[in-house]
Amino acid sequence: MADALIRVENLYKIFGDNPERAMKLVRDGFSKDEILTRSNQTVGLRDINLEIYNGEVFVIMGLSGSGKSTLIRHFNRLIDPTTGSIFVDNTDLMQLDQNDLALFRQQKISMVFQRFALMPHRNVIDNIAYGLKVQNLPRDERYERSQNWIDIVGLSGYENHYPSQLSGGQQQRVGLARALCTDAEVLLMDEAFSALDPLIRANLQGQLMDLQKRLKKTIVFITHDLDEALLVGDRIAILKDGMILQVGEAKDILLEPADEHVEAFVRNVNRARVLTVKDIMKDKLVRIDPSNTGGALQQLQKNESDIGYVVEKDSYKGVVTRASIERGQAGSVAAESQLNELVIKGPTLRNSTILQDALATTMESEFPVPVICEQGKIEGIVHRKDLLEVLSGNPAS
Ligand SMILES: Nc1ncnc2c1ncn2[C@@H]1O[C@H](COP(=O)(O)OP(=O)(O)O)[C@@H](O)[C@H]1O
Ligand SMILES: [Mg+2]
Repeated sequence: MADALIRVENLYKIFGDNPERAMKLVRDGFSKDEILTRSNQTVGLRDINLEIYNGEVFVIMGLSGSGKSTLIRHFNRLIDPTTGSIFVDNTDLMQLDQNDLALFRQQKISMVFQRFALMPHRNVIDNIAYGLKVQNLPRDERYERSQNWIDIVGLSGYENHYPSQLSGGQQQRVGLARALCTDAEVLLMDEAFSALDPLIRANLQGQLMDLQKRLKKTIVFITHDLDEALLVGDRIAILKDGMILQVGEAKDILLEPADEHVEAFVRNVNRARVLTVKDIMKDKLVRIDPSNTGGALQQLQKNESDIGYVVEKDSYKGVVTRASIERGQAGSVAAESQLNELVIKGPTLRNSTILQDALATTMESEFPVPVICEQGKIEGIVHRKDLLEVLSGNPAS
């Protein structure tokens, strides 16, 4: 199991002047609405327990008012819990004094806001360099590092522009560069792309995912948009009325929704565009070593399989069928050279391919299609029936 960088335990947040009264109603099992009616207190979060691992993009998804911002603001203690604990890198945030908290916010964690929150009277490079100024870095280094991030997010030439001179998408690139510039381990993004037009938004999503491949930061990404959640998230938590309904990978959420609320969320998702080959491939397959003279047929018989996948020194070569071997030697022992002649090359897939793009290959192939990694190893096979099963129950969209 990967390390938990952020750990939340039994977290409750009540908004109002009488949290004790609300907590009693919570314990008595009343709903958020009932508690508001009875006590005029708002249940922001209710018994949140979760772990966010080092290097993952963890998405918190839910409708407006479900508690997303309240939750993420606990991670840098912009909000204090009513009860419960938050640990970041095994540090209990509630134990930090003002000094430590200031350092923690400067160095460990950075945030990208929905409305960009740039300083209007500072230009692009100064907005980005500001976090480093607070860290007391020398001027040359501040500007060098800021310039580097300006180049990475594609704002070269805009260094001296002011926020009001930039489009929404450009402003959010500044926000992203500013957050990344401090080298903080954790990046918090609260609906960072929600205010942007769809095209610009898709563009920034893509850029974030490309960056993340290199940076491997721990990113907590908030969105109310399920498509965005499924696209960017390694894991997704679904929040409703301050409670977590389910935490899992896209395939868990889509294929095994925890309850009727999650099911309602995912009903209209086009699975063929979200799920990948990895989500449906099976590891069970018969590997045939061509140097194991004569072994091929026995191996197939032993595994009661009609198809073998020929693998030579970890490298996938192709498929052999039991029928072709039997025809070839009329039951006699297969020599290596003979086996090689029987190998059918056939199509292959990559595990990151979305099902939509794997559909034709899988349906047209006579055999379960091997999934091959970049180094040429076989990782698994895709059965036609698994693909169809996952895609049926999918709306025609
Ligand atoms: N400062 C506050 N005072 C009172 N209620 C609040 C406050 N902040 C949030 N809430 C309430 O807590 C709930 C969760 O809000 P929020 O975390 O902002 O949701 P989201 O970010 O998912 O839209 C809502 O019912 C909201 O009205
Ligand atoms: Mg919010």
